Order: sequence, then structure tokens, then C-alpha cells
Amino acid sequence: MRHQNSSRLERARPAMRGLAAFTGILALVVVAVTVSAVSIAGPRSGTVETTEADALATLRGSAINMEQTSPRMGKEVNTDLRPVRNYPEQPPTIPHKTRGYKINLKVNKCLSCHSRRAVEQSQAPMVSVTHFMDRDGQVLASVTPRRYFCSQCHVPQLDAKPLVANDFVDADTVIQVIRAKGN
Ligand code: HEC
Ligand code: HEC
Repeated sequence: MRHQNSSRLERARPAMRGLAAFTGILALVVVAVTVSAVSIAGPRSGTVETTEADALATLRGSAINMEQTSPRMGKEVNTDLRPVRNYPEQPPTIPHKTRGYKINLKVNKCLSCHSRRAVEQSQAPMVSVTHFMDRDGQVLASVTPRRYFCSQCHVPQLDAKPLVANDFVDADTVIQVIRAKGN
């Protein structure tokens, strides 16, 4: 058995040598392409870094050793309108005020409206079934400890202007663009 294998190996040798040579050339080409890509991208990425640093410096608006007056705090969004999610797994942002809502070992103010039993009274959306799953995907009878501290994932919003630009595009828009191109 062993002997047969080695003789097969003997026969395959010239082919393997050819393959090795081919791989060697391929590796050289890859290295060459990478080097030229790096030299093209190099100066450009350097420029981006400088502009970002400049932008951050102007966000602060004064020299590093100067004391600044803090900007006014924004108003908490309290529209009671459930916000669009940017992707299905996004924890929805909170469309109501949460000031003074305690979450600790004894009380969870959020669950006093969002728990399975509370929603009849509060008419709030119930926490979804994922909030009952342990890490093995087993659905428990009550909210899993992993999802007990709501504000770990859900946050209220402020009516503040974004400090930096954001070019996020929704997946639906991406799909529309692709369809329009006819792919
Ligand atoms: C007094 C009842 C009440 C309490 C307390 C409460 N909520 Fe709500 N929540 C609601 C209602 C009602 C809505 C539906 C939209 C609205 O009316 O604001 C809602 C909406 C939400 C939504 C949006 C859900 C979606 O699908 O878009 C999130 C997230 C949320 N609440 C999280 C929280 C968290 C976290 C807390 C605790 C810090 C909390 N809520 C405390 C009543 C409550
Ligand atoms: C570890 C992150 C995490 C924690 C902690 C968490 N949530 Fe969520 N929540 C999510 C995600 C992600 C979604 C959307 C997908 C889903 O349902 O799992 C969601 C969805 C929701 C929804 C919308 C449900 C629906 O069916 O539309 C409500 C309401 C909500 N959470 C409330 C709460 C409350 C109240 C708590 C605290 C008891 C809490 N969440 C804790 C991640 C979290």
C-alpha cells in the first residue's frame, strides 16, 4: 500500500514541479500587484488621515490647553413614534424619555411596560422572543439575564446635529441601485 503510494508520487513529480514553478510566478505577480497598489494608495490614505485629524481639531474649536464651555445638552427625542431600523438585527432606538427609569437587581422600570404581562396595560411593544433566549437558543419563561439591562443595547436619541458626516446607505437602497443597473 505504502509502496504503491510512493510510486504514484514518483510519477506525479514532473507535474508537481510544473505546479511549483507556476505557483512561484503567481506569488511574484501577487507581490508586484500588492506593492504597486500600496504605493498608489499610500499617499492618498496619508492625506485622509491628516484631514480627519484636522476635522477633529476643529470639532474641539480651540487649542488643547484651553478650557471650553460645554455645549448645551440636546433634547431627548420623545415622539412616541417607533423608529425605522437600519437593519433587521438592530436594537430599535427608544422613542420616548427614559430619565429616571431605574434598572437594578430589584426593579426594572422598562419591564414594567415592556414585559410579556405588562403590555396589555401599557400597550407598549413586548420585548421580542430573542429576549427570552439563553445563549444556547433555549427560550426561557422570563427575560434572560443577557437581556435584563435594556440600556446596554437600547438608547434614547437626542435632537443634536451629528458631529461627523455619515454616508450609511440602507440595504434596500443598495438593492435598488443594483437592480437599476440590471444585475
Ligand atoms: C410607561 C411605559 C414605558 C416604560 C416605563 C418604558 N417604555 Fe419603552 N415604549 C413604551 C411604549 C408605549 C412604546 C411605543 C412607542 C411609544 O409610544 O413611545 C415604547 C417603545 C419603546 C421602544 C421602541 C420599540 C420599537 O419596536 O421600535 C424601545 C426600544 C423601548 N421602548 C425601550 C424601552 C426601554 C429600554 C425602557 C427602559 C429604560 C423603556 N422602554 C421604558 C412604553 C414604555
Ligand atoms: C443584548 C442587547 C439587548 C438587550 C440587553 C435588550 N435588547 Fe431589546 N432588542 C435587541 C435587539 C437586537 C432587538 C431587535 C431584534 C430582536 O428582536 O432581537 C430588540 C428588540 C426590542 C424591542 C422590539 C420588539 C419587537 O418585536 O418589535 C423592544 C420593545 C425591546 N427590544 C425592549 C427591550 C427591553 C425593555 C429590554 C430590557 C429588559 C431589552 N430590550 C434588552 C437587543 C437587546
